[in-house]
Amino acid sequence: MLPPFASDNYAPTHPEVLAAIAAANDGYAVAYGDDPWTARLGARVREVFGPGALAFPVLNGTGANVVSLMAASTRWSGVVTSDVAHVHTDENGAPERVGGLKLLARTSVDGKITPDDVVAWSADAGDVHRAQPHVLSLTQATELGTVYTPAELRALTDAAHGAGMVVHLDGSRLANAAAHLGVGLRELTTDVGVDLLSLGAAKNGGLLGEAVVVLGPDDAPTPGAATARRAAAEAVPYLRKSTMQLASKARYLSAQLLAMLGDEDGDGDPLWLRNARVANAAAQRLRAGVDALDGREVRASRPTESNAVFATLPRTAAESLRRHTRFYDWADGETSDRVEVRWMCSWATTDADVDGFLEALSAAVPTG
Ligand SMILES: Cc1ncc(COP(=O)(O)O)c(C=O)c1O
Repeated sequence: MLPPFASDNYAPTHPEVLAAIAAANDGYAVAYGDDPWTARLGARVREVFGPGALAFPVLNGTGANVVSLMAASTRWSGVVTSDVAHVHTDENGAPERVGGLKLLARTSVDGKITPDDVVAWSADAGDVHRAQPHVLSLTQATELGTVYTPAELRALTDAAHGAGMVVHLDGSRLANAAAHLGVGLRELTTDVGVDLLSLGAAKNGGLLGEAVVVLGPDDAPTPGAATARRAAAEAVPYLRKSTMQLASKARYLSAQLLAMLGDEDGDGDPLWLRNARVANAAAQRLRAGVDALDGREVRASRPTESNAVFATLPRTAAESLRRHTRFYDWADGETSDRVEVRWMCSWATTDADVDGFLEALSAAVPTG
């Protein structure tokens, strides 16, 4: 059996993260985030995202999203997002159930929405019959493996702020997007007007734990955004507790995030970048191999811009490939005899894994 290509969540924890957890296991520490590791994480997050940025470690990505969205919302808010957004499709309605929010989903292209989608919903502002479009939630890299450029993000946040909205970024795979674009984390968040970030770690070599990052009010592009950031920074600690996302032993979460973001002296590439480069390179190798199966009944179906390759192939071929490895079908792009699938790479995927996968794929897919 080959390693799974189902999700980067299947990958083991990176040894440097485990070592950081072991190093944090050093005697007693104040619980609930008043510990030296969380203080150091705060300092590191300010270095990476700007002097006013605040980090709040949480237990998982769904929690980071729900806490962020709640912190940006009122009881009558709606959240504009894409129709394939994780918050919309894969969180069992947690933003609705836990947050009491209404999600306003827009049809996306390869997982991306545009400023026009923001403008379309902002027409509902002031209409008491409609959920008020107060928040824009974007995902970077998207659920379909594509990446917003900094210019695209800036255009989206400008449109949102112009309409009085707060911008949340689901950065479960922010590292993969940044590695693909060759930019830092700040260039995809603070510098393009993002207000609230769900900062991922688990999919990129972490064990468990992510963070809500509230970007600094002084970096906000509009006075309204600065006010929203201040309000969010005040709300997140309470929301994190009431949504069961406050870990008592927070030092172990913070130690992981610190390991991912790199040490203070900043020598060498941080772990988030090294891991994301490996995962993205594996996806590019896989994509090239799929494209080389020219004339066979398998076709890449989305741009490969992070660590996922999407493809369509006959259902029978997908089933026969499943004898060798595990992966998920995707709801889009399906017909009765063809299926769209996602093949995802991680920091742990090797060239040999990809080559073995391509061999199995080649044997499974008939000539067209
Ligand atoms: C884009 C995106 N956001 C959020 C999450 C949620 O993460 P978790 O499973 O840790 O709640 C995932 C998990 O797959 C994801 O892919």
